[in-house]
Amino acid sequence: MAKINRNYLKLPGSYLFSTIGKKVRAYEEQHPDEKVIRMGIGDVTQPIVPAVIAALHEATEEMGKAETFKGYAPDLGYEFLRKTIAEKDFKARGCDIAADEIFVSDGAKCDCSNIQEIFGLDNTIAVCDPVYPVYVDSNVMAGRTGEFDASLGKFERVIYMLCTKENGFCPELPTEVPDLIYLCFPNNPTGSAITKDKLQEWVDYANKNGSVILYDAAYEAYISEDNIPHSIYECEGAKTCAIEFRSFSKTAGFTGLRLGFTVIPKELKVEDVALWDLWARRHGTKYNGAPYIIQKAGEAVYSDAGRAQIKEQIAWYMGNAKILFEGLKDAGYEVSGGVNAPYLWLSTPKGMSSWEFFDHLLETAHVVGTPGVGFGPGGEGYFRLTAFGSRENTIEAVARIKAM
Ligand SMILES: Cc1ncc(COP(=O)(O)O)c(C=O)c1O
Repeated sequence: MAKINRNYLKLPGSYLFSTIGKKVRAYEEQHPDEKVIRMGIGDVTQPIVPAVIAALHEATEEMGKAETFKGYAPDLGYEFLRKTIAEKDFKARGCDIAADEIFVSDGAKCDCSNIQEIFGLDNTIAVCDPVYPVYVDSNVMAGRTGEFDASLGKFERVIYMLCTKENGFCPELPTEVPDLIYLCFPNNPTGSAITKDKLQEWVDYANKNGSVILYDAAYEAYISEDNIPHSIYECEGAKTCAIEFRSFSKTAGFTGLRLGFTVIPKELKVEDVALWDLWARRHGTKYNGAPYIIQKAGEAVYSDAGRAQIKEQIAWYMGNAKILFEGLKDAGYEVSGGVNAPYLWLSTPKGMSSWEFFDHLLETAHVVGTPGVGFGPGGEGYFRLTAFGSRENTIEAVARIKAM
């Protein structure tokens, strides 16, 4: 008789976005004349830039001619893309990453959830709290955690590293040493960034203890300050302790096109085994590559025209972030993020819980955000707004919040 993977049953329902959806729908039904502004979305809204669209058209035409048609992509991804990434994302920043240390994929979500497969089930994991839920849930599914303790909002056998305003939303080095450490900077949901010196401390800690850092840099393109590293490989010694995930989703609006990549340096070894070999094996066995036309579109992201157009798009989103940041500050809120990330993280006022503030904001300003507690117990008392809305709605939302 077939049996299910019972680890899946440990996962509490993902109530966050469905609860938000239900609450918003109920409010809209009761108040059909109010215009509700959604500032909770974590998806981009601007269209793909012209240089990328041109590459998509060209690659599509190639697929229609026998002499340029492409079938399965090479296991690691097309060399034209991997070489471009190695050159422009890494070598240009002084990181010695080779094209064959880059594994092209259809996005960071798959990679940062699948990567745990190459590690034994007896590894302990550490995550920030609050956190992008994929890191924890993928480990729960694999059976690397214990049960969910609803009273704490935490899984057993997971080291939660609290990120609050007191530590600048950057976790302390854990006293109980984890085997695998998930870090995400610039951070979703807190919008915080990590300085190079701080990240170096993590790299030194991991090398000293034999831990591996799983570094999610999906929001790297939003970094605006000089002392913030774009890649963990800017730190000395990171090649022996870190894997990095990148995404074209927020960088170039590819949430619907799907493209990302994972970097595994060849010298990164655990128990004398190169992790590169294990991931190459996994990639070759379980994955058949991102489409050629999307990889061509990805290459165009790095062209001069593509870079200029994307820079403008990101600056536009960050213009929204600035409006939100300054507006919320003016309105008396304690707010962070929005400088190196498209997320604003505010402390809920007057001791309100995250959900109480959600209801208050919806009812009073008709603005929807995301309760911080939805990202983990450490997010209680915080609230996330995003810079991905329209300029008009961002301005309107700020005006309404100020008038509350
Ligand atoms: C921290 C973080 N990592 C990864 C992803 C997913 O990226 P992708 O669209 O490439 O799968 C997201 C998307 O919201 C994210 O916030």
